[in-house]
Amino acid sequence: MIATILGARPQFIKAAVVSAELKKLGIEEYIIHTGQHYDANMSEVFWKELELPSPAINLNVGSASPGKQIALMLERLEAYLMPFLDKIRLVLVYGDTNSTLAGALAAANLGIPVAHIEAGLRSFDKTMPEEINRVLTDHLSRIFFCSSAQGVKWLKREGIDDQVYEVGDVMADALTRYLPLAEEKIRLENILPFDAGEQFILLTIHRQSNTMSKDRLASLIEAVGTLGMRVFWPVHPRSQQALKDLKLPNNIHLAGPLSYLEMLKVLNHSYKLITDSGGLQKEAYWLKKPCITLRTETEWVETLENKWNRLAPDTESLRSVFGHGPEAGSWKPLYTYAEPASKAIARILGEIYG
Ligand code: UD1
Repeated sequence: MIATILGARPQFIKAAVVSAELKKLGIEEYIIHTGQHYDANMSEVFWKELELPSPAINLNVGSASPGKQIALMLERLEAYLMPFLDKIRLVLVYGDTNSTLAGALAAANLGIPVAHIEAGLRSFDKTMPEEINRVLTDHLSRIFFCSSAQGVKWLKREGIDDQVYEVGDVMADALTRYLPLAEEKIRLENILPFDAGEQFILLTIHRQSNTMSKDRLASLIEAVGTLGMRVFWPVHPRSQQALKDLKLPNNIHLAGPLSYLEMLKVLNHSYKLITDSGGLQKEAYWLKKPCITLRTETEWVETLENKWNRLAPDTESLRSVFGHGPEAGSWKPLYTYAEPASKAIARILGEIYG
């Protein structure tokens, strides 16, 4: 049996496609939800919409400082994994959240091998909680699934070269599977607070680096306010708190967090994306939408090569890159291989663990 540990919104999306492939191969999976994300629109809506198998258990850790949140997860994960030690052959974790690190550390402490999906990503920015989580998780893992050749190289630089598999990106499989559903089921006019025929920019901001300082967030918002186009911003709860008392320019329209299908639909009909999310940078690329990333660096370096994605670490660069599109004819497939990543992961795990 495989125990999969999930906790945050993007992990539910990634797990949906991998779990489906594990099921096809008859591999038994025990899903543990740490409860890092707990609001209905951050968690439940994804489980329902993506038809993820219900978690065997929800550890209900909720929000807390990183230290307390990870400590609570560790304590509860240990308690729930312990009785199944003779059955669990592997723990599967995704990405770089606090749930990823806690899952990998709890398993490693109990002697259970860990497989890490999205292994080898690096921003080389140690002020990012996600960078700390992913580096530590890689060094606790035994099996590594990388989205690209770059991840394999970065792991090698850290001395990791055994059981490293370049399989592509599971989010590409999710997009392939769910985009037709999003196009069929979701009505833009039910989501957008303005005429759905109008051109708009999709905006998301939720990273600690952009929301911790009110001044930083206020200056980003002010710059987005000058772009001369409607902006639609589905707001993450962390940013909702940070937005209190800030005055919004008239062209920025807020909404609550969207479901996965809603997000795909909105992105697919947007003019451009401005974001600090990791996953959305790739989704924009696959949907051929130019993206501006509000950070000094990105782990998804391949998306920068032909300027479909541009970094804008400050408001001046945001204004200056906004008018520039990608080079004509420069789009090429990224993070996708002949065998879909989710299928390759299930096949490899099946070969190793039978
Ligand atoms: C986490 C991940 C981040 C990922 C993001 C996806 C870490 C360190 N970061 O960030 O990499 O991009 O998930 O969404 O794990 N909150 C709610 N309701 C919820 C969840 C959170 O109100 O259901 C609020 C809480 O006030 C909480 C804050 O949002 O303190 C931040 O939540 P947290 O899970 O700590 O990190 P995210 O910002 O969601």
